[in-house]
Amino acid sequence: MTTTTAPRLEEITPKNLEAALAIQVRPDQQFAVAPVVKSLAEAYVHPGSAWPRLIMDGDRAVGFLMVFLDIDWHDDGSSIRSGLWRLNIAAEEQGKGYGRFAVQAVAEELRRRGTRELHVTWHPGDKGPENFYLTLGFHKTGETVEKEKVGVLPLT
Ligand SMILES: CC(C)(COP(=O)(O)OP(=O)(O)OC[C@H]1O[C@@H](n2cnc3c(N)ncnc32)[C@H](O)[C@@H]1OP(=O)(O)O)[C@@H](O)C(=O)NCCC(=O)NCCS
Repeated sequence: MTTTTAPRLEEITPKNLEAALAIQVRPDQQFAVAPVVKSLAEAYVHPGSAWPRLIMDGDRAVGFLMVFLDIDWHDDGSSIRSGLWRLNIAAEEQGKGYGRFAVQAVAEELRRRGTRELHVTWHPGDKGPENFYLTLGFHKTGETVEKEKVGVLPLT
């Protein structure tokens, strides 16, 4: 039996890299999020704007998230946004509150950096995360980016 303690975020290091790469969502959710290996490759080429973290509970790697920082959303300086770029909770660890923890941890990190809104985009569809984000207080901005819905959570 696995136990749930207080989850935490860890930087990706040589020690936990394999555990991060092993995180997989359910096969029917793979349309909704890139695999961790792709996110880490993107983090490598965008070191200034990607903030990847492993979600740990005790000695279990239960998920992965990656934040985007200060992106020029319209490429014209009119809207600089930060938010959740990727969120992968391991298939066998879903439904235990780790997704909620991840969003709260990102909100805390962005508040610390002085950011007032947490943005996210998601693929629509029954198996997608839309209702997860709406449950956590995000609302739709009405925008669509490459067929993905844009959501925002005010950070008060
Ligand atoms: C979406 C995802 C991140 C949710 O993670 P999770 O750890 O299972 O979610 P939690 O257990 O923290 O759930 C938090 C709340 O959201 C609700 N929730 C979770 N997934 C939901 C869904 N698909 N639809 C509706 N509500 C959902 C839970 O019931 C819970 O509500 P409650 O506290 O009122 O009971 C996870 O299913 C996942 O990794 N999906 C595949 C990848 C993906 O879509 N990532 C997002 C890319 S933008």
